[in-house]
Amino acid sequence: MRVKRNSIHGQWSSRWAFILAATGSAVGLGNIWRFPYITGTYGGGAFVLVYILCVLLIAMPIMMAEIMLGRRGRRSPINTMYVLAEEENLNRSWSYLGWLGVVAGFLILSFYSVVAGWTLDYIFRAGSGAFTNVADTAIVSIFDGLLASPERLMVTHSLFMALTVIIVSMGVQSGLERAVKFLMPALFILLVIMVGYAMATPGFKEGFAYLFEPDFSKLTGEGMLAAMGQAFFSLSLGMGAIMTYGSYLPSNASIARTTFSIAVADTCVAILAGIAIFPLVFSYGLQPNSGPGLIFVTLPIAFGQMPYGQIVGTGFFVLLLFAAWTSSISLLEPAVAWLVENRDMSRPRAAGLAGLIAWILGIGSVLSFNDWQDIRLFDKTYFDIMDYLTSNIMLPLGGLLLAIFASWQMPRSSSVDELKIGHGLGYQTWRFLVRYLAPLGVLTIFLNAIGLI
Ligand code: PFF
Repeated sequence: MRVKRNSIHGQWSSRWAFILAATGSAVGLGNIWRFPYITGTYGGGAFVLVYILCVLLIAMPIMMAEIMLGRRGRRSPINTMYVLAEEENLNRSWSYLGWLGVVAGFLILSFYSVVAGWTLDYIFRAGSGAFTNVADTAIVSIFDGLLASPERLMVTHSLFMALTVIIVSMGVQSGLERAVKFLMPALFILLVIMVGYAMATPGFKEGFAYLFEPDFSKLTGEGMLAAMGQAFFSLSLGMGAIMTYGSYLPSNASIARTTFSIAVADTCVAILAGIAIFPLVFSYGLQPNSGPGLIFVTLPIAFGQMPYGQIVGTGFFVLLLFAAWTSSISLLEPAVAWLVENRDMSRPRAAGLAGLIAWILGIGSVLSFNDWQDIRLFDKTYFDIMDYLTSNIMLPLGGLLLAIFASWQMPRSSSVDELKIGHGLGYQTWRFLVRYLAPLGVLTIFLNAIGLI
């Protein structure tokens, strides 16, 4: 018989608080920094279409599964997978899936913190008027200059990691619930302002068409893999972050409605970021495929030219920093919850230790932009490898296994009991997607990318 469990780490005060926290985790650098640059790398419209299909058909059903498992287990992902496997008499090795997530979390946080550091640096630059009325080429040099300096990158990487550790030490609810409540809407409003600005630039039509008119000749297997990886990355799926947050979700909250709200908010932010950025790219004669620096070059040019750009620019990077912050804490939380549960550590100690590991791993990313620039594997730097390995391989693989666990291993009665949407059409659609379509989708995209189909 199943025992009702409570989380030792506490619970969200309401479903709304969970939506805010999970949206805080989902909306971050992935939407505003990564989505536009990956879209540019893989050619625009067709990529965006595959991305949206991946969100709807693969990521959303898996997100429901992940939240459901978290709430049922009410522990860190490693222990949740263990107790659920035990409860259903399944192989206990399913707990290794929790480990895969913890490792992915460290790897993502290590480079995420470096990029969040660029944002931190740009707050001061925008604030001091460094972008105001300067030539486009000077703005490119500012970004190149930042990447060329390991010292500057280390300072902001360290600062950001410290910020992450501080919030996780305090416990996810106290600081976080309040912060997300007004920061997310503020970021949204600022993005809308940027879209308004982009609409008035001469490149608007071209930028808009680039995003929404699919040119399938540009779509490759590699691009489809990247679109799927981006869906997992952007929704914080496949590594236990959402599972951990789900473990703090009150029992009576609707998982389906919650998932829908988070996915819609996350996708809207990514698309808005795209609409704000691509018109600027074409208006200023930049290259859409210029890589990770894309927003750090285009947006400052716009801030430098628009009225009140110094204020708008500073505000934008402050909000982006907060968006990154509410995501980074969810990357650390699964490991911290496990250390508290299994190693009997206090929260601050656990957060400090986990943060230190991610910080050390991040040094490689810092150096990959300068001193280690030429150390490459398959033409990828350390930073590229971390990003590729986690988003395109570890997260979809984690998601695939979660889907298999939730729909092939766990009995139907358990998911019916936990999802609380009855047996009707809604439940059947979810079960079909998570049992057949999502796993097959992930597998097909994997095999296609390595050229096997
Ligand atoms: N979803 C975050 C973003 O889009 O910036 C990044 C992220 C957070 C990925 C948490 C994975 C994760 F578990």
